[in-house]
Amino acid sequence: MKELSVHDLQKSFGKVRALTGVSFELRAGELLTLLGPSGCGKTTCLRLIAGFDRPDAGDIRIDGKSILPLPPERRRVGFVFQNYALLPHMSVAKNIAYGIRFRPGIDTRARVNELLSLIHLEGLADRRPNELSGGERQRVALARALAPSPQLLLLDEPLSALDAKLREELRGELRRIQRELSIPTVYVTHDQEEALAISDRIGVMHSGGIDQIGEPREVYTHPKTLFSAEFIGRSNRLSGRISSVTAEQIEVEVGEERLRAITGRTRLSPGMRVVLVIREEELRFTHSRSNSVRGRIEDSEYHGETTTVLVSTPLGPVRVRVAGNASTTSIGKQVEVYFPPERLLVFPAEPAPG
Ligand SMILES: Nc1ncnc2c1ncn2[C@@H]1O[C@H](COP(=O)(O)OP(=O)(O)OP(=O)(O)O)[C@@H](O)[C@H]1O
Ligand SMILES: [Mg+2]
Repeated sequence: MKELSVHDLQKSFGKVRALTGVSFELRAGELLTLLGPSGCGKTTCLRLIAGFDRPDAGDIRIDGKSILPLPPERRRVGFVFQNYALLPHMSVAKNIAYGIRFRPGIDTRARVNELLSLIHLEGLADRRPNELSGGERQRVALARALAPSPQLLLLDEPLSALDAKLREELRGELRRIQRELSIPTVYVTHDQEEALAISDRIGVMHSGGIDQIGEPREVYTHPKTLFSAEFIGRSNRLSGRISSVTAEQIEVEVGEERLRAITGRTRLSPGMRVVLVIREEELRFTHSRSNSVRGRIEDSEYHGETTTVLVSTPLGPVRVRVAGNASTTSIGKQVEVYFPPERLLVFPAEPAPG
């Protein structure tokens, strides 16, 4: 497969519009993540690609040819379900061989051994799923999906049943296998950190549509929508009104204060109500002639690598994330919080009319 192209997919279940027009392209060997909150349509999208459901409108093409007329078994798609769906009464080897058991011309035993070595579970061929750890089960589910040599891999929250440490370990493992096979993959998760860590590109999903598709760094630093800005990363949100717009900067009144933002957004004009978003780690405890406000540390949360400091300011409470060993975090301390103008994101408060 050179390219999967999903074009304006729409799907409703009764009155629920699960997908309102999803489009994206997946290139050879690429891992694209669909990232979004519960209910935004991620699973629906995968099920349509796999052929378990039919779209109401739109098309799905592989190398330019629609696969909609094909039944699931002829689409050559590997699917890993969120709950693994392993067959409990069968051994690991039989689970892996399940999708190729009637295929002529495949040396099943050799293929199973090859996959067991790929997932680093040689020696566990005869175990039953209930004799495996969660992480091992997840790998078996992956091997089972890969057994028929699919041209496309779909992973639906494959790590969500595992604890944090194991998730991190296995996402690296998944990425290694995906790269080794160079298999184009659509990966679904609601975990932004996971998405940032493993993806070539991320599609941020929201209420049945995709807000933005881009490389992890781009999606993090240049969110295109307010939703995207707030869903990925940890941010502060302030409401204000634009007081002036020049070619270089926008000035926003937030209560009695004024903040400058350097932004390329063109649809903003004076008087407009806006939402300012800034990542917790972009705020600085430092004084500046503009774009800084006085505040008082009200609380702090120690996370090890970082500490989140809650500061009350004339703009309202803001959260500042600093390195974990910073000594500036004692409650009651007076501080100045600086808002770097190039890091302030500005979005219209209401959707633009029309
Ligand atoms: N078979 C169905 N019948 C009715 N409604 C459905 C059906 N499948 C999905 N929906 C609805 O469609 C919307 C999208 O569901 P979907 O399962 O795609 O979300 P999701 O992004 O995968 O969520 P989660 O992260 O919780 O798995 C939801 O509102 C859901 O309730
Ligand atoms: Mg789902």
